Amino acid sequence: IQVGVIFGGRSVEHEISVISAQQAMSAFDKSAYAITPIYITKAGKWYTGDALMNVDNYKNLDQLLAQCTEIYLSPSFGDFNLYPVKTGLFGKKDLGKIDVAFPVIHGTNGEDGTLQGLLELKGIPFVGCNVLSSAVGMDKIMMKMVLKESGLPVVDYTWFTDRSWHTNQTAIIAKIKEIGFPVIVKPSNLGSSVGVSKAADEKQLLDAVELAGSFSSRILVERMVQNLKEINCSVLGDANEQAASVCEEPLGAGDILSYKDKYVNNAKGGGSKGMTSTKRQIPANIPAELSTKIQTLAKETFRILDCSGVSRIDFLTDTQTGDVYVNEINTIPGSLSFYLWEATDKKFDRLLKDMVDTAMK
Ligand code: DAL
Ligand code: MG
Repeated sequence: IQVGVIFGGRSVEHEISVISAQQAMSAFDKSAYAITPIYITKAGKWYTGDALMNVDNYKNLDQLLAQCTEIYLSPSFGDFNLYPVKTGLFGKKDLGKIDVAFPVIHGTNGEDGTLQGLLELKGIPFVGCNVLSSAVGMDKIMMKMVLKESGLPVVDYTWFTDRSWHTNQTAIIAKIKEIGFPVIVKPSNLGSSVGVSKAADEKQLLDAVELAGSFSSRILVERMVQNLKEINCSVLGDANEQAASVCEEPLGAGDILSYKDKYVNNAKGGGSKGMTSTKRQIPANIPAELSTKIQTLAKETFRILDCSGVSRIDFLTDTQTGDVYVNEINTIPGSLSFYLWEATDKKFDRLLKDMVDTAMK
């Protein structure tokens, strides 16, 4: 089976995607799968070539791309052949066909339904969530609305657009005061904590909204959970069947796990565990009942959002009250959450096989 792993992309999480994709490409069982790497640059150009399968080559991008071929997808339905953009003397040359596409892009233009829409339009089977679940999962506001309506626990929140912030600020601030400081302010549709900050009072709120608004025109403000412990759980499956992994506790330095906590702090020690330089406790050091509760909520979230493949659902817990809230879903999680499945005895190659099987069903 020829698998086209699509990664990179026009997203602030570009580099993380490169690492997640390298991990996946090297873990595939090569006796059953052949990999075609498809790299989308930050400017949105598509490339293929074997040199893309070595992470060290990304240190010099110009040199790497010089060894690769810029490609486009044929516009015809049901055809996932790759064609070089520059055809040379002998015209259009087919670079080979792909049986299934495997998007490993985090964030905008990859995890949000746009790439999934392109693949859907072309009639190409692809791994992971469909257009709807990707789009809803990426937008933190939409996701909370859907989950709240479904009776799942989410933290109190309000949301507004940057335009209404300027026209209607007094009413918005009154609403935020009702929720109560401190609050967490987030752009609605980014990943990896980019643009997320805490505001303890009205003055800090102005800065926090400005920061979030520089990333997204839709802004989410949430009550800050006290005595916070974050717990994550991965779910594998589709609309009909879901399995939950063990729970993990990501460990960071402050109130919010920053981009730095997640990827920079111990990136040097990366190795096979990844980019995912986040320090983590696996399984999370929590009572068995809490872990079961979180696994059940994770599967419910996955099912309600109509997810497929592997997702990671992130929870906020209050260690004093025992309250649990669904915080967000990552429909293409960093490292595809393989480290959570290894803990349940499902090695990465098996996880990838399950994901491809689900896509080709
Ligand atoms: N969005 C990143 C990659 C994650 O949370 O896994
Ligand atoms: Mg996250």
